[in-house]
Amino acid sequence: MPLPKSAPPVEAIAWCESQWGHPDEVALPLSDRGLALGDGVFETVLIRQGTPQLLREHLQRWLMSAKLLELPPPPGEAAVQAWLSEAIARSGIKDGALRINWSRGSSNRGLIPPRTPIGRCWGTFHMHHPRFQPTKVIISKQVRRWSDDPLASCKSLNYGAQVLARSEALRQGADDALLLNTEGELCCGSSANLLVQRSGQWLTPPIRSGCLPGVMRAQGLELNVIKEEALSSSLREDEPAVLLNSLDCRPLNNQAKLLSRRLFEQLLRSA
Ligand SMILES: Cc1ncc(COP(=O)(O)O)c(C=O)c1O
Repeated sequence: MPLPKSAPPVEAIAWCESQWGHPDEVALPLSDRGLALGDGVFETVLIRQGTPQLLREHLQRWLMSAKLLELPPPPGEAAVQAWLSEAIARSGIKDGALRINWSRGSSNRGLIPPRTPIGRCWGTFHMHHPRFQPTKVIISKQVRRWSDDPLASCKSLNYGAQVLARSEALRQGADDALLLNTEGELCCGSSANLLVQRSGQWLTPPIRSGCLPGVMRAQGLELNVIKEEALSSSLREDEPAVLLNSLDCRPLNNQAKLLSRRLFEQLLRSA
């Protein structure tokens, strides 16, 4: 039900199947394989003035991630648009981060997938405005990306390694961690693609480095604003660097401060 006009602003709303409410209250069955095993996939989409940004591209990757995990196909555009409209009507939020999750659904205890999985979808919608604030990073010693990891190019629900890397950064007084791959090359951030600018050209590691095929990264490649190139094991002081994902574009040094917002808006404008 939409909010009455006098209600205080809501910062987030969630749904699971037909339940709606605050994210702390909406429940997922304990037999769900996404909850128990990380056996599912997700997307996070920026919503501006009620309009999803790069939705088609996100839904394509959702489908591709589901295929990689051999899940049933996730809900399509009409269902996602309907959830978004209801989330906006119920919360009053127009600028936010929409997260949609798709798991293999429920099963018995253990790893063996059900023979005919039905899948389960749930989601959250949080208030969010893109952030461009300077971000201090370390290079993680605990976590690396493995280029042959079958899940590397899948946006799976399992973010355990990235959580470890982010905690490692926070313990050292930094905001985030960059991850090397098993070849010792810079690969990505804990929840973003890494871009460095060399001689005026944005560069990002190729997919074979083990990074996630980010939607914003793909947008930049298509526009020839970004080129793929393997990076060395550390950032260079004189090269602007940013962490880019669908929600934010965070500069990693002074040289990137003025460039990050411009890059982000350019990629979205051209969509
Ligand atoms: C590990 C990782 N790499 C890259 C990205 C950027 O992807 P996108 O541009 O699709 O948000 C994300 C986004 O969450 C991520 O978690």
